[in-house]
Amino acid sequence: MPVEATTSYPAAAKSATAVLVTGASGGVGSTAVALLAAAGYEVVASTGKSAERDYLSGLGAGRVVGREFAEDDGRILGPQLWAGVVDCVGGRTLAQALRTVRYGGAVAASGLTGGNDLSTTVYPFIVRAVALLGIDTVATPIAERRALWAEMPSVFPLGRCEDMVDAEIGLDGLTSALARVLEAGVRGRILVRP
Ligand SMILES: NC(=O)c1ccc[n+]([C@@H]2O[C@H](COP(=O)([O-])OP(=O)(O)OC[C@H]3O[C@@H](n4cnc5c(N)ncnc54)[C@H](OP(=O)(O)O)[C@@H]3O)[C@@H](O)[C@H]2O)c1
Repeated sequence: MPVEATTSYPAAAKSATAVLVTGASGGVGSTAVALLAAAGYEVVASTGKSAERDYLSGLGAGRVVGREFAEDDGRILGPQLWAGVVDCVGGRTLAQALRTVRYGGAVAASGLTGGNDLSTTVYPFIVRAVALLGIDTVATPIAERRALWAEMPSVFPLGRCEDMVDAEIGLDGLTSALARVLEAGVRGRILVRP
């Protein structure tokens, strides 16, 4: 007798449709929030800046949470909260994302503002079929970049660009601006007018 294929995902996994963005108020995070929301995803923005809640909601986040977005009760795998994660932070944040993404979900790792280490287990991969996707823009071939930039006007909410400019500076303002970047004090991007 043939064995029928069955779906045995836990109930929580089926209902997890949100995409989490960590380091959400930064440049990469803000862009991810705006792009995902414009594409129709339910976005949860994780930020350490409580003052930027309205900003993130304005970009399209349906929910804004702190940097501790999941309880760490010491268990290897946590609740299945997200369909996917865009992680700009790395370190413990990336480990938490991996243990709370749902069955079959994916985590895109782009940054290391929270640390360059990663302490995790194989369980998200071999029990929940989670994918960890590395992102690198620096070596992305120019043809691929041009194709993506050409697509941007139709997928990015251009009306949000102004909100994402934290400040406009000249070259003489670079030193103090970089100090703010290192303190994680910048919202979106600083625009440099040489
Ligand atoms: N792979 C690539 O191709 C690529 C491309 C661009 C950038 N990056 C990297 O991606 C990361 C983000 O870039 P970005 O341009 O968005 O930087 P950014 O504008 O400086 O934003 C980084 C954000 O990370 C959060 N953060 C800072 N310190 C943290 C900490 N100790 N713990 C947790 N969160 C912290 C803050 O957001 P909240 O206050 O909202 O939590 C901060 O705004 C950087 O590491 C950068 O080098 C990688």
